[in-house]
Amino acid sequence: MAQEQPETVPRGDGQTIPHWHSPSGETIRLVEAEDSTVIDDQGREYLDFVSQLYCVNAGHSNEAIIEAAENQLRRAPYIASSKHNDTRDQLADALADIAPGALSDVYFSISGSEANEAAMTIARKVQDAPKILTRWQSYHGGTYGSGSLTGDPSTRSTLERYAATTNTGKFLPPLPEAFGTDDPDELARRAADHVEFVIQNEGADSIAAIFMEPVAGSSGAYTAPPGYFERLREICDEYDILLVADEVITGFGRCGDWFGINTENVEPDMITFAKGITSAYIPLAGVIAADWIGEEIAESGHDLGQTFAGHPVACAAGLATIEEYDNGLLDNVAELTPVFDARLERIEEEYDVVGTTRGRGFLRSIVFEDPETGEPFVNPWANDDDEDNPVDDVRKAAMERGVMFGSGRPNVQLLASPPLCTTRAEIESAFDALEAAIEDVFY
Ligand SMILES: Cc1ncc(COP(=O)(O)O)c(C=O)c1O
Repeated sequence: MAQEQPETVPRGDGQTIPHWHSPSGETIRLVEAEDSTVIDDQGREYLDFVSQLYCVNAGHSNEAIIEAAENQLRRAPYIASSKHNDTRDQLADALADIAPGALSDVYFSISGSEANEAAMTIARKVQDAPKILTRWQSYHGGTYGSGSLTGDPSTRSTLERYAATTNTGKFLPPLPEAFGTDDPDELARRAADHVEFVIQNEGADSIAAIFMEPVAGSSGAYTAPPGYFERLREICDEYDILLVADEVITGFGRCGDWFGINTENVEPDMITFAKGITSAYIPLAGVIAADWIGEEIAESGHDLGQTFAGHPVACAAGLATIEEYDNGLLDNVAELTPVFDARLERIEEEYDVVGTTRGRGFLRSIVFEDPETGEPFVNPWANDDDEDNPVDDVRKAAMERGVMFGSGRPNVQLLASPPLCTTRAEIESAFDALEAAIEDVFY
């Protein structure tokens, strides 16, 4: 029997079509949120171990961010994206300050997909070349342009069933299963050589840029072996191809540093960002480009735009969010990363259904496999909602126990990606719930 609704929460008529909708999908309705906790319309609390969509990095209901947005709303609620605005310019400066090296010029956008579309347009223009290369097992967005960058087959099949997306090419990610080696040096070498092989076969002159997530996001939180990005930087320089870091998930402390690429010892030509810039309170995204790219655009012009790009209210929220990261949230990730490491190690040791765990900082994946075969429990590429998937059962069992984890693409893994304000006790309690959920389903 349905429980009584809290009086203050009208149910609505339920006609919203959720994104990533599946007929067997969730029906939960969230109505309140604070710090690392979200609350549904039945009053049930959940630890949000997926930061909704890997985006509420500063935690829910952060007062400083709300106040900054409110103040901007009262002072100048909207200024055209074609004009300069003090708040927008201040945020551009703040982004240039935290971005690596010569990345200095910011072209704002609205969503991560559109940030990647903008970076594609800019890369093609300044390089005068049509193609962009990305990895299989990647996610860069769900619009036609950004979806063509995405390696995830379910996104691409949804888009490409009715219209071609063009001028992109794919290469293999630096995963042990793709290159048949666990040795990090060997993996870095083989995976980078493979990228060079793809470039030579596609024709270096036809390629404007390579886009990569420094740590994979929804496709499985996999990191690159040491030296891989450095070698890719060399290859890009040798063949005159731009290197673009898609930091839509990995940016703003998610992996322990301002940007995921900071850990790799290379400077990309552009960074794309979204999600964590405002802790997702208000849509905001963009491209941080190397100064020479900014100069080229300033000289040649760029006759494209979007009404809501760099919205001043979002920019005010962005400035306050950056301050919150600086004032302790990044430190919290650094301090509590060992707690994550220890719990993931334990889960790998204790449960034979856990094949491996991956990731960095507060972006982690727990990959499940059938201990008898060493293979995933479901065909990772079949995208069959009706198929029995014990990994999904674990996710649902954890939710029953009050913790939300993310489901990866492919759905052979659970993703753990809590807000950066999450405490040690909350991490311990989320992993306790996960272990209990694994026991519920498998033992
Ligand atoms: C790495 C990455 N790039 C781009 C996007 C697209 O962002 P949005 O959903 O804001 O369009 C996402 C979304 O999850 C992402 O994870």
